[in-house]
Amino acid sequence: MPSNSVEKIKEKLDITEVVGSYIKLQKAGASYKAKCPFHNEKTPSFFVSPGRGTYYCFGCGAKGDIFTFVEELEGLDFLGALRLLADRAGIELEKIDPKARSEKDKLYEIMELASKYFEENLAKNQKAMQYLNQRGFEKETVKLWRLGYAENEWRNLQNHLSVLRVNDNEMLKCGLIKKSEQSKEGFYDVFRGRIMFPIFDQNGRIIAFSGRIFDDVPDAPKYINSPETELFNKSETLYGFDRAKTEIRKKDYSILVEGQMDLIACHQAGFTNTVASSGTAFTEGHLLKLKKLSNKIMFVFDADKAGFLAANKSAVLALDLGMEVKLASLPKGSDPAQLLKDDALNFKACLRNSRHLIDFYLDDLLAQRVEGRKLAKEVGEKVLPYVGKLTSAIEQSHFVSQISKKTSIPEEAIWFDLRKLKYVQTDNLKKEKVTTATEIKKRKNHIERRLLGIILWQREEKSKIIDESKILDRLKEITGKIVSDFPEAEGNREELIFEAENYYEGRENLEMEVEELLNNLKEDILREKFIETMHALDQAEKKKDGKKSKELLNLCQEITKELSELAVKRL
Ligand code: CTP
Ligand code: MN
Repeated sequence: MPSNSVEKIKEKLDITEVVGSYIKLQKAGASYKAKCPFHNEKTPSFFVSPGRGTYYCFGCGAKGDIFTFVEELEGLDFLGALRLLADRAGIELEKIDPKARSEKDKLYEIMELASKYFEENLAKNQKAMQYLNQRGFEKETVKLWRLGYAENEWRNLQNHLSVLRVNDNEMLKCGLIKKSEQSKEGFYDVFRGRIMFPIFDQNGRIIAFSGRIFDDVPDAPKYINSPETELFNKSETLYGFDRAKTEIRKKDYSILVEGQMDLIACHQAGFTNTVASSGTAFTEGHLLKLKKLSNKIMFVFDADKAGFLAANKSAVLALDLGMEVKLASLPKGSDPAQLLKDDALNFKACLRNSRHLIDFYLDDLLAQRVEGRKLAKEVGEKVLPYVGKLTSAIEQSHFVSQISKKTSIPEEAIWFDLRKLKYVQTDNLKKEKVTTATEIKKRKNHIERRLLGIILWQREEKSKIIDESKILDRLKEITGKIVSDFPEAEGNREELIFEAENYYEGRENLEMEVEELLNNLKEDILREKFIETMHALDQAEKKKDGKKSKELLNLCQEITKELSELAVKRL
């Protein structure tokens, strides 16, 4: 894609308009500000500069232009963002680059034609329409999800498409027809006598179909799905993703169900952050896509064994990716579509009662009334492996204390088992040390810079808007440092004052913002300390230094306690 299409789009679209369509912007001098969509905060430190066409977050350091913004927020790749923004700008990419109208685009067009045909057929088929209504789907829902019907005939779609000048080879590439085994030349429709669900990609284009049996088709499976094609990659496609993605980011979690029926029912009932796998189990590819939007994920499944096993498998996969996994089980024998139709309140209650995967297993054990040494053994076998999978040492620590509380097994014993079972992996720790440590450091520097700026600026002001000596005290209390301990305060003094004055001048709730900065700083320092202590603990245990291990373990527990107190304070 030539870079000039990017330039043209940037020229046409105002960044405040693009960003403003996702989050609420407030005017702040020449810039606009908002609560940062990329990290959690109560007071806005996310700034958009219309002049430069860029955004920057003083809280987390996120920065970029309309393309990176849309990529991040919509979970799109660069090309996806380009398409979306081109569309918005009213610029046709094809016109800019004739080659962009590729063979693939032709296939999208054919899928669109096929879907229109199925939709028309459904409108004409009373019985199929009635069936969908009786399953609880409203008319609007059927339209919105573009449900259709494939007649129970061998070549209706093929004939229809060939009149529209689509050739057999193209239909074959779309996975809409199949070669007949009897005759050499003959083809027949893949979908016959089925309710049709178009499967959309993340931009809302149709890339496949799933057909549920409706008429009596002998020896046919309940569902038939399109084969993998140039357009359709099963392990990456999530049904409903295109409609759910913004909601997932907004609500900061995704709901996962199995199958089209359940997904549509969930969306119809207002659970618009739901996605489904279609025809496969959830793959790592699926989960990574969701992780980009939110690290939290909730599996809804039927309480029967098969439902649980399927959800469990995917849940463990998500846990391995460092995601926060909750499970919501439905009453035995029911699925979301059924329950939402019969008893929507009950469905809501099931979601409300969802629990973290680890709590789920733990409660399950406790419900079986296992006790004493048997309980310790079972915890070691059935719960600790999952605790060991947690990539965050802080989360691990949280669950260790949770398990200890619920089972009365001392925390130390649980840690001991975790280590003995090699579930606390140094690898994990190292990984965490590198990734989170650099992240934390980056953010810490940001915050320190902000605070120093405010202090230096206010020191010189005659009519102060905040008492900087109080900030100084808190800074010293939290970091143990005074202003001259920070090298930036000397070298970048003018710059810091300039920044602070520009961003905080005239701010009414500066006090609140400073409080938030201080709390964030404290949290980051505690987290750093925790990671370091866990690492030292690991080394001490390797050296079999029992006394030191015990000391460090206590320290870890203290830090966790402080961290959770801080979290509670900030609620
Ligand atoms: N599925 C499939 N092939 C099958 C059966 C199921 O691909 N032979 C997939 C479909 O995506 C289906 C999902 O697995 O939506 C869940 O299957 P199931 O629970 O049997 O179907 P429901 O979606 O619940 O459909 P219905 O309620 O109409 O039976
Ligand atoms: Mn069902």
